[in-house]
Amino acid sequence: MGFYRALVLPRIINGACGGRLLEPLRRRVCAGLAGEVVEIGFGSGLNVPFYPAAVTGVDAVEPADLGWRLAAGRIAAARVPVRRSGLDGQSLSFADRSHDAALSTWTLCTIPDAAAALREVRRVLRPGATLHFLEHGLAPDEQVRRWQHRLDPLHQRLAGGCRLTQPITDLLAGAGFAVTDLDVFYQKGVPKFTGAYTLGTAVAP
Ligand SMILES: C[S@@+](CC[C@H](N)C(=O)[O-])C[C@H]1O[C@@H](n2cnc3c(N)ncnc32)[C@H](O)[C@@H]1O
Repeated sequence: MGFYRALVLPRIINGACGGRLLEPLRRRVCAGLAGEVVEIGFGSGLNVPFYPAAVTGVDAVEPADLGWRLAAGRIAAARVPVRRSGLDGQSLSFADRSHDAALSTWTLCTIPDAAAALREVRRVLRPGATLHFLEHGLAPDEQVRRWQHRLDPLHQRLAGGCRLTQPITDLLAGAGFAVTDLDVFYQKGVPKFTGAYTLGTAVAP
């Protein structure tokens, strides 16, 4: 991991994704999580304050050491044990069907092979368990999509490989998930090319 990704980007993400405006979305996506949860792309733990009381433990998967250090205060204040349990969502160390729920927020844009990560999440979820997701990705409107494709190469360079054009629901379906709850919208105050959000839940078969 280079200097920028290791020591700069986690601070930018902690600031940009840590705004109060996003808290209602974090509360929404975390609602209903229960039992043993795996969170991929844990970042600096900005979802920790929103884990419901029914969560018994969280396996956090995050490559950036600095993200983990920035999360320390939130983890210390958490009601549930949060363990750093891996560095790469594309290759999880857990047994098949070992988890009751999964969480991913603004992560499928950045993981190099998001399809592989979703297959791994599906593998470690027990049948009928739910993945809670909140992602930005390919916009519903063609005009916005055109801008996303134009800006994507530059955006990837500036934002640590973050892609603007991930087709979130297609990726979920491709990994065998059945989407059970879905809200696609443009986030207020965010340019549409990066503010096309997909929030919902999907069930593992
Ligand atoms: C935009 S940030 C979102 C962080 C956090 N989920 C949040 O909502 O604030 C994307 C995160 O994915 C992490 N990431 C990048 N590659 C990854 C991988 N292969 N496996 C798991 N996480 C990864 C990054 O280090 C970063 O923390």
